[in-house]
Amino acid sequence: MTFNQLFNSFIAKHGNTHDVIFFELIFYVSPSVKTKDQFIQKRNETIDFKEKFFWKLVKQYFVEQKPLAHIIGQTRFCDLIFKVSPKVLAPRDITEQMTRDFIDKHKNDKPSHLVDLCCGCGCIGISIKKYIPQFTVACIDKYWKPIFDTRDNGIKHQTQLTVDCVDAIKYLARKGNIDYLISNPPYINKENFANEWMFKYEDKHALIAPDNGLYFYKEYFKWLDQHTFKEAWFEIGYDLEKPLMDLAKDFQNIKVSFIPNKQYIVIKRKQ
Ligand SMILES: C[S@@+](CC[C@H](N)C(=O)[O-])C[C@H]1O[C@@H](n2cnc3c(N)ncnc32)[C@H](O)[C@@H]1O
Repeated sequence: MTFNQLFNSFIAKHGNTHDVIFFELIFYVSPSVKTKDQFIQKRNETIDFKEKFFWKLVKQYFVEQKPLAHIIGQTRFCDLIFKVSPKVLAPRDITEQMTRDFIDKHKNDKPSHLVDLCCGCGCIGISIKKYIPQFTVACIDKYWKPIFDTRDNGIKHQTQLTVDCVDAIKYLARKGNIDYLISNPPYINKENFANEWMFKYEDKHALIAPDNGLYFYKEYFKWLDQHTFKEAWFEIGYDLEKPLMDLAKDFQNIKVSFIPNKQYIVIKRKQ
């Protein structure tokens, strides 16, 4: 079996919209093919890994619905590779979109301090530090598994960060003013999710939030209402726009903007 024959067989089964999955799995299982250029060079050579093992990983993805990041132990985010350990949340495309938008908007800002609350593997805070090096960045998570990944990813990308294993709300309670806050907090309403398979690969506490999914936003809004800051960017659930609009009405000092066709909000102080 050559690399090209394997590719054709994969496409015949899963269609060419999944070629990204094919290549990520090949880069993982092959000791010699780590880029598409290497694949093209070697396409007529015999594969250098066990074919059965490759198909086992394909099955994990398509049948067992295991996130690719957990199959190969890493993911691409803002053109950087992040280690993602079992049970740590696999970063999503919508989070990458928010992070890219933040970087585009602020890459030429003067030095400022940013906190990534609920940092998981550190993908948001580390990407920002990498592309906006004049910022100081702190990454916060309540649990050790994500914190260890953030530390490892920070070292891998040679970024200087403060990394703290602490509850995000307790962290804010002891902080004065912060320039930028960014967060993809847990926001799934437990009542809507009887779907236990969802928690097979990712911890419940990375996904579920009390108070119909609003707990973190309520606490964040309370803090923002009472402090000085430049901007806060928070990812939101697709079903949270209306409840968050209602929630925002309870706070006098902040203006919450919903970004059309994007799953995040940007908050500023009212002038
Ligand atoms: C939705 S995940 C986001 C991870 C990462 N920022 C990303 O976007 O891929 C939420 C993260 O919040 C963390 N977390 C849950 N409760 C927390 C709390 N009270 N304080 C700080 N972090 C918390 C979880 O461990 C998890 O890593």
